[in-house]
Amino acid sequence: MKATARAHPNIALVKYWGKRDEKLILPHQSSLSVTLGPLSVTTTVEFTGEKGADQIEINGKLAEGSERKRVEEALKLVRAEGGRKLGAAKMVSRGDFPAAAGLASSAAAFAALAVAARAAAGFKRDTRAESILARRGSGSASRSIQGGFVRWNRGRRPDGEDSFGEQLFDEAHWPDLRMLVGMVSREEKEVKSRDGMRSTVDTSPYYPAWTKDAEREVKEIVRHVKRRDLEAVGELAERNAWRMHASALGANPPLCYLKPATLSVIEACRGLRQQGVGVWFTLDAGPNPVLLTTVKDEALAGAIVMAQGATEVVHCAPGGDAQLVETHLF
Ligand code: PMV
Repeated sequence: MKATARAHPNIALVKYWGKRDEKLILPHQSSLSVTLGPLSVTTTVEFTGEKGADQIEINGKLAEGSERKRVEEALKLVRAEGGRKLGAAKMVSRGDFPAAAGLASSAAAFAALAVAARAAAGFKRDTRAESILARRGSGSASRSIQGGFVRWNRGRRPDGEDSFGEQLFDEAHWPDLRMLVGMVSREEKEVKSRDGMRSTVDTSPYYPAWTKDAEREVKEIVRHVKRRDLEAVGELAERNAWRMHASALGANPPLCYLKPATLSVIEACRGLRQQGVGVWFTLDAGPNPVLLTTVKDEALAGAIVMAQGATEVVHCAPGGDAQLVETHLF
């Protein structure tokens, strides 16, 4: 009753921002992301068969507060589905990149947890069920069960059974695509995505406008990804990120995730494009821009981010599926 899984984070090119159901984590819109290799989170889960509280350790520390509660909830769902006495769980999780810095570490974490916990409970692999379970921990985690380009379908059902991640193209579809995460800040963000999106849905007059275009934008970007058209993907991803941030800026109190260095990188990108370099950006709910480019312009794009004061640039390529691994963390 012990299993270990490894999953990659993902970066959305058409983003999810806002829930229609807070408990089930159902989005107002579909979204599309690319899975980020080589970054990963590895998680071991063991159901002990004994009574008592779950033991949850994340990056060397016992989990507390809302973080702990979210993991407990996910484990509870596995127990409920299992229908047999699995008992308390022990979970140890370790990521190889900084948490809560605008990179979706929670996506990789809940994807790894979903795969490991279901396997530890004796279920066969089932990407749909894993994606739905991962979604209950963190919405974007539904897109980290599979590699390559994954669409999280909004779904219509109130029970959320049709709201899961679905791979459209695997990681071999566009192997020379690069995503460069410019670490302009390593601080934990002040407002977590969960609270930020709730406040945007509740208070931003721009929220309805933000959701209006989403389904069309997902369809459009799928066509561009299919053709591996970086310019079209980049332009749409930039516009989509700006609109997400515009909806957040319209919240009360306003939510600004950008730092001065974020804007410097964005400006530098524009400058490079004028010189014929193929580089665009996207930005999650944090200050660290993610540049979209290809192998050809990777070095130049990385250098320009460092020149704007980034402490590090993390180079990513389309990553693969979440996988069960043999080596346990305990
Ligand atoms: O899954 P969460 O609650 O971490 O929210 C993720 C929201 C964004 O990263 C900003 C966008 C996205 O689609 O990943």
